[in-house]
Amino acid sequence: MTLLKRHGEASVALELQGSLFFGTADQLYNVVEPELKTRRFVILDFLRVQSVDITVAHLLEQIGERLAERDATLLFSDLPRSLPSGRDLERYFGEVGLVRAGHRARVFDELDSALEWVEDRILEAEKVQRAEEHALELRDIDLFRPLSDSERRAAAASFKRHHYARGERIIVEGEPGNSFFVIDTGEVEVLKNTGGALRPIARLHEGQFFGEMALLTGADRAATVVAATDADMFAIDKAGFHGVLVANPGVAVDISRILAERTDALSNAVVDVTERFGLGSAPALKDDLLKRIRSYFGL
Ligand code: CMP
Repeated sequence: MTLLKRHGEASVALELQGSLFFGTADQLYNVVEPELKTRRFVILDFLRVQSVDITVAHLLEQIGERLAERDATLLFSDLPRSLPSGRDLERYFGEVGLVRAGHRARVFDELDSALEWVEDRILEAEKVQRAEEHALELRDIDLFRPLSDSERRAAAASFKRHHYARGERIIVEGEPGNSFFVIDTGEVEVLKNTGGALRPIARLHEGQFFGEMALLTGADRAATVVAATDADMFAIDKAGFHGVLVANPGVAVDISRILAERTDALSNAVVDVTERFGLGSAPALKDDLLKRIRSYFGL
């Protein structure tokens, strides 16, 4: 019996050969055993197997159980329909309880399909893990505190993480905008064009957000935003934000309050900003902005 191995990080495929019987069981176990401690997926390919006896079938069951204890999965591929011995291996595995409903071992026609399935599971797990990591971090952000854990996880799934080097422009005043940013690490500078010169309006840091004005009202970007340090952002687009607002309309109320304060600060920097939004001043501003957000998002 010889074995060929293909290694990935989380998975290994072992191509079994020859007759698997009590005489080769030890050899098989010695090769597979080290893989049981770390791998999340162990694929055993039977393309070149001539026979399997009951000793090996039980050994395979133990292997499956050891993997299951660690939440890892055993996969079989290329189980021959019938061995030279005339035995249907999948049915035989079913009979000895190795492959049955509720059992974690899975059967694939070909090694490639097993490898593909493993690849998909690994990608899926990475996606879930990323969403969970983001969800944890979103909890530290004031705006998302009212969201439940599941709402936060759903929101996190539509956030994409971006890195910006110090000095890089993230938003350019006057351009249309379709992204909203939350600062995960670092700081940004908000600058307003006043008569040809860029004037600093505000500096925002970890946990604060920007880009909400264009995203939430449909107006062009009201200011330029530059990374003041190397910085990491979570970015969400209109469709993603719509999901957050539908699940939690209170977020729109909080944002419209901050939006009103910022618009006010901008209008102090340049007179034409309230004109741009076609809005009056102070107290009416927040309500007007909230109305605008609700209508733009169809809430
Ligand atoms: P938006 O207009 O989409 O793009 C530029 C962003 O700069 C804007 O959204 C706000 O998020 C941000 N911004 C504008 N004015 C201020 C301000 N006074 N304080 C903080 N951030 C601001």
